[in-house]
Amino acid sequence: MRSKLLVFLALVALVIVAACAPAPAPAPTAAPPTAAPAAPKPTDAPKPTDVPKPTAVPPTAAPPTAAPKVLKGELNLLCTPQQVWCEGMKKEFEAKYPGVTVNFIRLSSGEALTRIRNEKANPQFDIWWGGPIDSFIAAKAEGLLEPYKSPGQANIIDPKLMMDNDPNPQWVGIYVGSIGFATNTKQTAIKPPTSYEDLIKPEMKGQIAIAHPASSGTSYTFMCSILQIKGEKDGWEYMKKFASNVLIWTKSGAAPGNNVGLGEASVGVVFSHDIVKNIDVDKFPMALSFPSEGTGYEIGGMGLIKGAKNPELAKAWYDWALEAKTQELGKKYTAYQGLTIKGAQPPKPELLQVKLINYNFDYCGKNKTAFVDKFSNEIAAAALAK
Ligand code: F6P
Repeated sequence: MRSKLLVFLALVALVIVAACAPAPAPAPTAAPPTAAPAAPKPTDAPKPTDVPKPTAVPPTAAPPTAAPKVLKGELNLLCTPQQVWCEGMKKEFEAKYPGVTVNFIRLSSGEALTRIRNEKANPQFDIWWGGPIDSFIAAKAEGLLEPYKSPGQANIIDPKLMMDNDPNPQWVGIYVGSIGFATNTKQTAIKPPTSYEDLIKPEMKGQIAIAHPASSGTSYTFMCSILQIKGEKDGWEYMKKFASNVLIWTKSGAAPGNNVGLGEASVGVVFSHDIVKNIDVDKFPMALSFPSEGTGYEIGGMGLIKGAKNPELAKAWYDWALEAKTQELGKKYTAYQGLTIKGAQPPKPELLQVKLINYNFDYCGKNKTAFVDKFSNEIAAAALAK
């Protein structure tokens, strides 16, 4: 009887202990599904307001930088921005990759396109860095570029506008620049133009310097802007009148700034960042103005050359050029373009805070050869013959 009582008491104790034990934690349940982030609304053709206002972009924290790969060899760079920047970038890249030597040649956009076209069967360059993307779009259409998706493309400020949206992208934007007018301020007869109409006035005859659109991406940007603003029929008429007022045709797009600064011409049509360099660095007596109708602009591009002999080095340059810190190096080498990577601080944001036209890069890129040929054969030849 006593042992039965003990068993009974033990059972009662077990029941009490079980009742007081903490409840088991609930089994983890899947997190409630969160709404997918809203996809950015697709926009139509680039509008003036689509152009990035670099200052408005909140800087993002710089991603931790991986230790640079050990690379060796020679990288052959086709470089279209100014010589000083090309030299500076060569130096900076070689400092990052001491086993690599960068060989570069600076060629204007049209010359660069002709060069890679002529070398298609045996490419001498690995990568093309700089110059308006109209020429990269033309190069892509001719099968001259190699597709590449760089991790840096995820940080492009405006991907719809600033990179090739092909699933196999062949070019990417590395800077942005607006066309401006440079006027020598020591001469007083000619006031800084504020309209395209000013450039075709009789008093402007023999006063203008501009590059030839066949060689220069700057001049092509100006010409294609005119064809878009006025429509092709009136645009070509305008170009005829404009060409008859030109005194100096240069090969490189930035060169007319020097002609104007030295008093060899009164007005130059040049990218505004090059004009700012002429004013701030060269100390030329020069004013910068813009057309009130709206001005054309460039996205400066970069692309790998198809069949390049050093693709690994070319990709290393490509990735590096899409880092915010690399883009900020331009200023050190007197290049004042707007930038395309989130968090990169542009040196002169005001140069893009002007009225920009709705520049259609696809239209200008795909028609580049035809437009340049038409200008060369029907307009420049006649203007030069006078
Ligand atoms: O000077 C630099 C720059 O204006 C770039 O912004 C531009 O992409 C390039 O030169 C165009 O050069 P070019 O007109 O000689 O082709």
